Amino acid sequence: MSARVSASVTVRVPAKVNVQLAVGAARPDGFHDLANVFLAVGLYDEVTVTEADDLRVTCAGPDADQVPLDRTNLAARAAITLAERYGRVPAVHLHIAKDIPVAGGMAGGSADGAGALLACDALWGTGASRAELLDICAELGSDVPFSLVGGAALGTGRGELLTPLEVGGTFHWVFAMADRGLSTPAVFREFDRLAATEGRRIPEPVASPALLTALAKGDPEALAATVSNDLQRAALSLFPALADTLATGRAAGALTALVSGSGPTTAFLARDAATAAGIAEALTGVCRTVRTTTAPAPGATVL
Ligand code: C5P
Repeated sequence: MSARVSASVTVRVPAKVNVQLAVGAARPDGFHDLANVFLAVGLYDEVTVTEADDLRVTCAGPDADQVPLDRTNLAARAAITLAERYGRVPAVHLHIAKDIPVAGGMAGGSADGAGALLACDALWGTGASRAELLDICAELGSDVPFSLVGGAALGTGRGELLTPLEVGGTFHWVFAMADRGLSTPAVFREFDRLAATEGRRIPEPVASPALLTALAKGDPEALAATVSNDLQRAALSLFPALADTLATGRAAGALTALVSGSGPTTAFLARDAATAAGIAEALTGVCRTVRTTTAPAPGATVL
C-alpha cells in the first residue's frame, strides 16, 4: 500500500527597495501615477503549492501571525485568478515561508502573489505566456509584476508597467525592520494630505537620468547621490521614530539612508560588504531586526 503523493512546486521570490519613487497627483481612480525604480534585493519569501482538497493558506516565519490566511491573501487571490482563467478549481495548499517583513514597504505581499501565481502555473501546466502572467500580476497589485521579473525595472502607470533596467554591478544594502507596519494606502493618503496642506503643486513623476546611469554603471556613490522617495516625508509623518533610525545608519557610514517604498523598513546603501556589516551592527538594538544583503536579485524562480 502506498500513500498518495501530492505534486508540489516551490517558488522563491525577492523583496524590493525603490531607489526612486516619484509620486504624481492622485488620479480619479484613487491611484497615483509613479516613476518607480524598483531594485530586487536578496531577501526572499518561498511559496510552496501542493495539490489539496480545498484552497488553504499557511504561513511560517517571524511575522507569520500578521499574515492573513483567508482569500484576501495575495497568494490565494493569485491561485483563484489563474484557476478562473484556465477553468480549473484552485484546490491547493499554499504555504508561505516568510522572510520579507510584513507591511514593511518591501513588497512582501506582492512577492507571495507572484510566487503563488508562478507555482500554480507550473503545477497546473497552464501554458500561460509571460505576458499573460504579467497581466494577472498587474490585476493583483501595482508591485506584483516586478516581483515576478526581479532585477531592476522602471515602473510607470501605477507602477505595473515595467521597463527592465540594466544594473552594472552589485550593491550592498542594510535593511532595518521596524516594530510595527505601515499601511500603503494610509501613506499615500498622508502624501496627499501633506501636499494639500502645503498647497504644493505635484509635478509629473519622471525617472532621474542620473539615477539610471548610476544603476547601469553599478556605482554606489552615484546611486546614493540620486536616490529619492516622495513617500518618505509621509512615512516619517506617520512614524516619526524612523528619523532616528535613518540618522543612526548615516552616522555609521551609509552612503545614503531612505525609507523603503511606503515604509516603515529603512534602507541603507553601503560602499562594500564590510561597511554594510558595520552599519548593521550600529542599527542592532535600534530597530526590531537588521539584515544585510545585496542587489540586484533574480525575480520569481521555480526551485
Ligand atoms: O496596487 P496595490 O493594491 O498594491 O495598492 C495598494 C494601495 O496603495 C492602493 O489601494 C492605493 O491606495 C495605493 N497606491 C496608490 N498609487 C499607486 C499604487 C498604490 O495610491 N500607484
